[in-house]
Amino acid sequence: MDRLKVTEEQLSFLSQRVESALERWLPRENIHPASLHEAMRYSVLNGGKRIRPALMYATGMALGVPLKSLDGAAAAVELIHAYSLIHDDLPAMDDDDLRRGKPTCHKAFDEASAILAGDAIQALAFNIIASDPEGPVSATIRLKMIEVLAHAAGSRGMAGGQAIDLASVGMALSLTELEDMHIHKTGALIRTSVMLAAHAKPGIETDTLGRLDHFSKCIGLAFQIHDDVLDVEGDTEILGKPQGSDRDLNKPTYPAILGLAESRVRALDLYNDATDSLSGLGDDASLLKDIAAFIVTRES
Ligand code: IPE
Ligand code: IPE
Ligand code: MG
Ligand code: MG
Ligand code: MG
Repeated sequence: MDRLKVTEEQLSFLSQRVESALERWLPRENIHPASLHEAMRYSVLNGGKRIRPALMYATGMALGVPLKSLDGAAAAVELIHAYSLIHDDLPAMDDDDLRRGKPTCHKAFDEASAILAGDAIQALAFNIIASDPEGPVSATIRLKMIEVLAHAAGSRGMAGGQAIDLASVGMALSLTELEDMHIHKTGALIRTSVMLAAHAKPGIETDTLGRLDHFSKCIGLAFQIHDDVLDVEGDTEILGKPQGSDRDLNKPTYPAILGLAESRVRALDLYNDATDSLSGLGDDASLLKDIAAFIVTRES
């Protein structure tokens, strides 16, 4: 069995794990106000790759953190991601009709429901970390996790990156500006997925924290570079979202600024830089490395 196949099987195992946590935490469709809960469940339980939770669990495995104590944080990070996608697809942002192979939330429901579903999903994420009975016992660790996730989701993280993205339409950004946008809009949440598991380990060594921080920063940027590449050469059917959306919206992207071949090289360089920084973690970090390889080779 080749290496990538192993990763696919492990990814599927980890994605089922977070799937059941999400299923448990999301209010049922018949709970009042039912239409809001329906929109929330529609947008979360719809077959995403669950790569952020997988990175969190794989970091937990590398550090010996029990996966059960990470289920809440894994669900929380996926919820922040799902909320960001609902809002990203709105007419005021990317105005996309297809997400994960299905109509986007505002198409299946309406714009107000999509805005509110995003709002409520974000709030639920923080509620879970604060209240998960299986989460880290230490209140100090939980507070740190809430702080780190809030920073990654906010104006100096994902939301800030989205603001830069919208302000950059039609502009010729420099590579530094483009990288700054990507690090914020996508990199911040990927980085945090790794770092939440790191913070869940009591007394983690500063050196290990630094290695994981560098790994996750590199792989977070590589993730969005590859997403930009897929927008050019991917297939709508496989992507589950419209190929060519960036070009249609005149978005600054890596392929637009560097070209496709150079963009692929840049993603691969970042992958190598990322995995080099895991060298001190030994064999326990092998799944983390495999997921990093998946991130820069995936087709969707
Ligand atoms: C897509 O993220 C949006 C970006 C941040 C680039 P994913 O590729 O992880 O989307 P899903 O969750 O698998 O649908
Ligand atoms: C989205 O970037 C980043 C966030 C949702 C925060 P994109 O706009 O490139 O994501 P896709 O391609 O629509 O999934
Ligand atoms: Mg966007
Ligand atoms: Mg988009
Ligand atoms: Mg994209």
